Amino acid sequence: FEVVWDAAAAEKGGWSSFMAKEVSEEPEAVAKTVLGRIRDGAVVIPELEALDDLFRGITRVIVIACGTAAYAGMVGKYALEQWTRVPVDVELAHEFRYRDPVIGADTLVVSISQSGETMDTLMAVKYAREQGAKTLSICNTQGATIPRESDAIVYTHAGPEVAVASTKAFVAQITALYLLALHVGRVRGVLSAEQSAANVRELEAIPAKISRVLETEQAHIEQFARWMGDTQSVLFLGRHVGYPIALEGALKLKEISYIHAEGFAAGELKHGPIALIEPGQPVFVIVPSPRESAELHKKVVSNIQEIRARGARVIAVAEEGDAAVLPFADEVLRIPLAGALFEPLLAVVPLHIFAMGLATAKGLDVDQPRNLAKSVTVE
Ligand code: G6P
Repeated sequence: FEVVWDAAAAEKGGWSSFMAKEVSEEPEAVAKTVLGRIRDGAVVIPELEALDDLFRGITRVIVIACGTAAYAGMVGKYALEQWTRVPVDVELAHEFRYRDPVIGADTLVVSISQSGETMDTLMAVKYAREQGAKTLSICNTQGATIPRESDAIVYTHAGPEVAVASTKAFVAQITALYLLALHVGRVRGVLSAEQSAANVRELEAIPAKISRVLETEQAHIEQFARWMGDTQSVLFLGRHVGYPIALEGALKLKEISYIHAEGFAAGELKHGPIALIEPGQPVFVIVPSPRESAELHKKVVSNIQEIRARGARVIAVAEEGDAAVLPFADEVLRIPLAGALFEPLLAVVPLHIFAMGLATAKGLDVDQPRNLAKSVTVE
């Protein structure tokens, strides 16, 4: 009698890949990043409290990151500006450093990195410090280089991420940015205690809502991903906070299924990308909630009609109960109701599942895509 022990399979805890395991851990990644950091409806993070004087005086925030982390930064910009009223720029770390950026003692530079070792991001953080800015690191890896080189750290608690393509770290990064935004919003007197508490409640409700997306949509998405195994190109459209989600959906598909994919701001469609639409072209559309913004919802539904009229195959990611998309969509992926700023944490989940489903249908190794490294430690 011989027991065959497969260490790699054991680490995956029964999942077919680390990526599948890590997507299943997205609810937990959000929950653990919030855990222990809320008291009476307010964010309580000692590392942040030490910077309260700085937060009162800052005139701008620059978020620097690469890859998926940069898209988390783009989502964070909407919340930071809305809740703190401080202007926020999001920049790719490798672009930031080489353009002589305007920064000073009243600039807060927030870096985001899962590994904490990405050389481009590290060099940008060092550069920002040399220029006199204060730096805050959002990082998933305890004791990594970027947090050590920063003035303050807010760790994401997504747990170790093994698959090269980032998934659970992405939702944890958005969560950490929201905690930061809520704290700074309170310190600057922009948010009332009630507003802070209401947003905290929204954030605390997210893990169960992500679980629901996984339960209700995973099998459906995997099924149509299988039918799309020979697709050559996929487009993603989103607006407002849905725009960075469109970019993230496209990046994930490029990374692990080697399919040409592009994300666009839906409003930009008429300024160029609509020329790409031909019969059969699959287009994912992140539809904003009609309850949260009737205006944006109407505009995106009209984008859907425009591309559908040109033969696009529309896959809509829409709030439960939104019937306006039904006549024009080939597939509808449902996400639970949430405040507008919280939709990205839900809308990204079907896109992660889809990228994984398509790569699996093509027989690819989803954990170790060709040419990519989990952590890029060269510039
Ligand atoms: C690499 C990975 C990406 C990741 C990026 C930033 O390019 O392949 O998945 O988003 O680095 O990584 P970081 O560890 O800084 O978040």
